[in-house]
Amino acid sequence: MGRQRVLSGVQPTGNLHLGNYLGAIRNWVEAQSEYENYLFIADLHAITVPHDPKTLAANTYTLAALYLACGLDLSHSTIFVQSHVSAHCELTWLLNCVTPLNWLEDMIQFKEKAVKQGENVGVGLLDYPVLMAADILLYQADKVPVGEDQKQHLELTRDIVNRFNHLFAKKGKSVLKLPDPLIRKQGARVMSLTDGTKKMSKSDPSELSRINLLDSADEISKKIKRCKTDPIRGLTFDDAERPECHNLLMLYMLLSGKSKEEVVIECQDMGWGQFKPLLAETTITALKPIQEKYQQIMVDKGYLESVLRDGREKAGAIAQQTLSKVKAAMGYSMPL
Ligand code: AMP
Ligand code: TRP
Repeated sequence: MGRQRVLSGVQPTGNLHLGNYLGAIRNWVEAQSEYENYLFIADLHAITVPHDPKTLAANTYTLAALYLACGLDLSHSTIFVQSHVSAHCELTWLLNCVTPLNWLEDMIQFKEKAVKQGENVGVGLLDYPVLMAADILLYQADKVPVGEDQKQHLELTRDIVNRFNHLFAKKGKSVLKLPDPLIRKQGARVMSLTDGTKKMSKSDPSELSRINLLDSADEISKKIKRCKTDPIRGLTFDDAERPECHNLLMLYMLLSGKSKEEVVIECQDMGWGQFKPLLAETTITALKPIQEKYQQIMVDKGYLESVLRDGREKAGAIAQQTLSKVKAAMGYSMPL
């Protein structure tokens, strides 16, 4: 038995923030040696809302460099760009034709993004989860590590698998594999610094709401100094009345590597004036090695390109196998 396969991706839309890191990438890095990993830059998903062609390629490279800077190791992980492997689009079309429209209309993320955009919502935004299902199923992934916000899309992927296998699998031999989501309890939902009830998001208009992985020490200090708190002294986890307090303690716990019990004891009598500089220092220290490595990688574009070329080749070969299997199951024939 080989290792189980992990697949995941992040969209190259704007800066990567602590939510993306703690909810997704850090978990990929920590578990990578146990799995065979396929990690990609979701640049086809990035155009499901209006995008700027001038920044798409640069954002894609930045994100690939950040994957490496965060610690993805090429001996365990294949890194590639979604649009480089055309099978993603092809499988999406095939799956589109077995996915009921109302499943997509029910997706929370679609509804939220459609309302936000208002006019001229593209068909791609509705179809986003089918493309995501194609990403996962092409690699016959066992596990998909994501943040909490992607859970519904994983459930949809599983529904598509069941429907596809029911319609096209012969004699109970399934064509597509059922993937499991891998959602960590801690870090799965990092909240905004300006509103502890909203998740930290790339699309929040306020820069003060998030800490980006490439923020300078000064920016980090400033954002933490100005983040929302409450007038209560003594800091506690899990108080529904104090969402900001819970979020900031959680960030401190995850970035310092301390246990929850240690943080409870350390912070129970603190006021914000004492805690904020501590959190700022901890964040700066945690991000420094990532930022240094990122700078090193970015000076050698040739290296980054070679990583993505290798990734395209490895990923493309596997994707093509699944695509052929799916097409055969659906009744297409293709002479060699
Ligand atoms: P996106 O920025 O939407 O491409 O998300 C990339 C990954 O980061 C996905 O696995 C998301 O679930 C995860 N993610 C995004 N925002 C957060 C957040 N605020 N807390 C935890 N995980 C997040
Ligand atoms: N939709 C995911 C997000 O925004 C990114 C993504 C695209 C993804 N395809 C995927 C994540 C496949 C996991 C598996 O976070």
